[in-house]
Amino acid sequence: MQRSRPLDPPTELAEIRSERPVSRVTLWDGTQPWLVTRLEDARVVLGDRRFSADLRTPGFPMVLRAQQALRRPDDVVPFIRMDPPEHGVFRRMLTRDFMIKRVNALRPKIQEIVDGFLDEMLAKPAPADLVAEFALPVPSLVIALLLGVPYEDHGFFQSRSNVLLNLESTAEDVQGARAALDAYLGDLVDRRLREPGDDLISRLAVERLATGELSREQLVSMSFLLLIAGHETTANMTALSILSLLQNPDQLAVLRDDPTLIPGAVEELLRFHTIVHIGLPRVALEDVTFGDVTISAGEGVIVSLPAANRDEEQFADPDQLDVTREARRQIAFGFGVHQCLGQPLARAELQIAVETVLRRVPTLRLAVPTEEIPFRTAMAIYGVHQLPVTW
Ligand code: HEM
Repeated sequence: MQRSRPLDPPTELAEIRSERPVSRVTLWDGTQPWLVTRLEDARVVLGDRRFSADLRTPGFPMVLRAQQALRRPDDVVPFIRMDPPEHGVFRRMLTRDFMIKRVNALRPKIQEIVDGFLDEMLAKPAPADLVAEFALPVPSLVIALLLGVPYEDHGFFQSRSNVLLNLESTAEDVQGARAALDAYLGDLVDRRLREPGDDLISRLAVERLATGELSREQLVSMSFLLLIAGHETTANMTALSILSLLQNPDQLAVLRDDPTLIPGAVEELLRFHTIVHIGLPRVALEDVTFGDVTISAGEGVIVSLPAANRDEEQFADPDQLDVTREARRQIAFGFGVHQCLGQPLARAELQIAVETVLRRVPTLRLAVPTEEIPFRTAMAIYGVHQLPVTW
C-alpha cells in the first residue's frame, strides 16, 4: 500500500479499519494472511498465547520477500521470532541492561552525546543534513557504547543495516549483508571473550557463552538484533519528530514554552509516526474469533501498528498531531511479550534529543520544501533518508 501523504499511513488502511477491520490480504508469495487494523484487536493478537511469533510455526507469514534470506542456515532463530518459554530465556539475559533505572543512569551520557553531535553540526556552515549529523549518530554511538561495538565501524554497520531494511533488496543483497555482519560480530564476540571490556557483549561472552548457556551463534544473533534495532529506529523517530514539529510551529511552541510536556509529546510522536510500518507477523495456534471473522489455527496474521495507532475509537482526531494528547495507549513499541526491549532507552534518547534541539537551536527550520525531502517509503523502518535544515 502506498502513502498518499508522507506523514500519514496509506489511506487504504483507514478504509479497511472502518469497513472490515480484520481482512485478508495477499502477500508477495500469494499467501493470504489476515490483516489486523484496530488497536483492541492488535493487543489481542500480540498479547495472547493463542498467537505465535515463532517463524518456525507452519503458516508463519513471510511479509518480505527477502525475509526468506534472513533465515539462518544453522537454524539459530532470533528471540524476536521465538515463543515463550524459549523466548524468555534469551530476553531475560538482557532485561537488566535495558531497565528504566539503568537507562536513567545513562541520561547524562546520552545528553553529552546529544550535545556533542549538535555542537559539531552547529560549528559547520548551514545548511546541514540533520539525519547524517545528528539523528543517526546519536543512537548509533549510544548502542555501540552499550554493546561494546567500536563506533569507528559505524559506516560498516549502518550501510549493512540499510541493505537489510530495504524492502527492495534482493535475497543475495540481504544474505551478503547478513553474512558480513555475522562475521564482524562473531569476531567481536571472540575478541571480547579473550579480552572483556565493560560492555554488554563482553558480559554475555563471559557469563553466558563461556558457561555454555549461550552458543556463539546465539550471542551473535542477539548482538545483531540489538545493534540494528538500537540505531535505525531511534534515528528515524528523531528525524521525523523534528520534521513534524517544524511543520507544526504551534505544537513546537507549546513544547518550547513548557519542556515538561516533552515526555508526553514523545508518546504522541511515537503514535503519530509509528515507524515500524510494515506489519508484525504472527500465526494463530487456535481458532480465534474477532466479530464475524474467525482466524483458524495455522493461518497467518499481520498486525498493522500504524493502523492501530490511528484508530479513531481510541484516539480522537487520530490524524492530527497533538503533543498534549494522552497517547500512552499507543503501541508503536508493539505489545505483549515481544514489546520492545529497548523502549526505555529509545524514550530517553528521544526526549533528550527533542528537548535539546528545541532549546539550543530556536531558529531551526527546513532548508528545502517538504516535497524535496526523501522519505523512506521502501524501508522496513519508516523515516527520512535526509533532512536538510538551516538555522
Ligand atoms: C522489539 C519498535 C527502539 C530493541 C520491538 C517491536 C517493536 C519495536 C514494534 C516488537 C516487534 C514484534 O513484536 O514483532 C521500536 C521503536 C523504537 C525501538 C519504534 C524506537 C523509537 C529499540 C532500541 C532497541 C530495541 C533502541 C535496543 C536497544 C528491540 C528488541 C526487540 C524489539 C531486542 C525484541 C524484543 C522481544 O522480542 O522480546 N521494537 N523499537 N528497540 N526492540 Fe525495539
